[in-house]
Amino acid sequence: MTDPRLTSLQTAVPGLLIKTDPADLEHYGRDWTRRWTPAPLAIALPGTVDQVQAVVRWAFEHGVAIVPSGGRTGLSGGAVAAKGELVLSLERMNRVLGYDPVDNHLTVQAGTPLQVVQEAAQAQGLVYPVDFGSRGSCSIGGNIATNAGGIRVIRHGNTREWIAGLKLVTGTGELLDLGRGLVKNSSGYDLRHLAIGSEGTLGIVVEATLRLTQPLPAAQTLLLALPSFEAVMQVFAAFRARLDLQAFEFLTDIGLRHVLAHGGINPFETVYPYYVVTEYDAADEAQQAAGLAAFEHCLEQGWVLDGVQAASEAQAAQLWRLREGITEALARYRPYKNDISVRISALPVFLAKARTLLDEAYPQFEVVWFGHIGDGNLHINVLQPDGVSDGEFMAQCAKVTAVLADLLQQVGGSISAEHGIGLVKKDYLESTRTAAEITLMRGIRAVMDPKGILNPGKIFD
Ligand code: FAD
Ligand code: MLT
Ligand code: ZN
Repeated sequence: MTDPRLTSLQTAVPGLLIKTDPADLEHYGRDWTRRWTPAPLAIALPGTVDQVQAVVRWAFEHGVAIVPSGGRTGLSGGAVAAKGELVLSLERMNRVLGYDPVDNHLTVQAGTPLQVVQEAAQAQGLVYPVDFGSRGSCSIGGNIATNAGGIRVIRHGNTREWIAGLKLVTGTGELLDLGRGLVKNSSGYDLRHLAIGSEGTLGIVVEATLRLTQPLPAAQTLLLALPSFEAVMQVFAAFRARLDLQAFEFLTDIGLRHVLAHGGINPFETVYPYYVVTEYDAADEAQQAAGLAAFEHCLEQGWVLDGVQAASEAQAAQLWRLREGITEALARYRPYKNDISVRISALPVFLAKARTLLDEAYPQFEVVWFGHIGDGNLHINVLQPDGVSDGEFMAQCAKVTAVLADLLQQVGGSISAEHGIGLVKKDYLESTRTAAEITLMRGIRAVMDPKGILNPGKIFD
């Protein structure tokens, strides 16, 4: 630890765990994007809220940039430290602090993994309904900072809906206790909601009080094979009108092929162009019959070509793996990830234009479409082929994304549905937010982080 700043930090925060090994700098300096070379100053791993505050006060005094860091499963470069920043990892602050059975609130430290939260809720006979593939390694703090979505948004909404309170350390080291678990609180601006989705630029989440809810009714999981994108939308409309959906996700033959190559079981013998994984309430005979009727209706219309019904929890997990395994299966290609959002009503118009655009723009690249179609959230992953340089690949993706961003602007969509802007989508923020909005965001940031030490360069410069 030869850098004098670190000696000064250690003196200012006695007992603070600081890591500087090259392997640690690499490990903590990047997220799942793998596009930037990690180069943090060091990794600070506080064990208490007091230590977090002390680190921020020290950074404020010395003008050192901080990158708040959770599980680094982020897909937009938000947790990347490539410019000598101090990574502040919440990893050691990972305890469940308590459960209130009257309020149905679970209070956890920010570094608690999502899956630990889900299990703690289950232990109380309740659920924390936010759910997605990185549940085992992402943290609640990261989920809050990105307003994470996932596969249950269609039923339960984003992370935002489940945050009854949070504690936030601002860019001056001040601790704010926001929301405080109140159901009603009409006393001015709700700063809690500013912090949610702020990608570590307004403060460091150190603690969260989460709303829990009753378990969902027993569900039926279905994998459907479909002939076209149009059919995906037709089946969605038919299912939504007849059933209480718990999830409605889609993927294509290309996505499925990658998942199967990575390990997965294909229940179909034929290759189909599109697939849907859906779950709906099937707690009684009437709901089960409605599910079957919806399926048969779609089959008769020619919107569905084949289907598999999970007969057990294990089989449901296998079907889900075909959808949830995509990110991991594609990781070796370091895909360029679009994470776009449009109103469901605008999907048909948007899709028609976007598909033509992307087919023409990427003839030489493999493009994998999947996502939370029931929320109007599409993941369009462009794979970098072997032999194409990083520079060439990223330049082409940037060019196409600019056109895609224009298209999104025309239909009132967003360049990021759930992954955040981070570093990846900074150049396209103006397609989604007006100049007036961005000016206000900068102003808010300047108030909460006057020296601009919290995650500088993320969302905007
Ligand atoms: P990190 O990656 O560590 O950080 C993300 C951002 O939050 C960064 O800007 C960071 O600075 C900031 N941050 C982290 N912790 C704090 C804190 N305590 N206080 C303030 N700021 C903080 N995302 C979805 O929304 N839906 C999905 O369906 C989904 N599926 C995924 C599946 C896989 C396999 C993978 C790898 C990722 C997936 N993601 C998904 C993306 C990712 O898991 C989420 O964005 C998640 O919320 C990030 O949490 P994290 O703890 O890993 O955050
Ligand atoms: C998903 O829906 O699987 C996630 O958002 C991850 C991804 O986009 O790769
Ligand atoms: Zn997603």
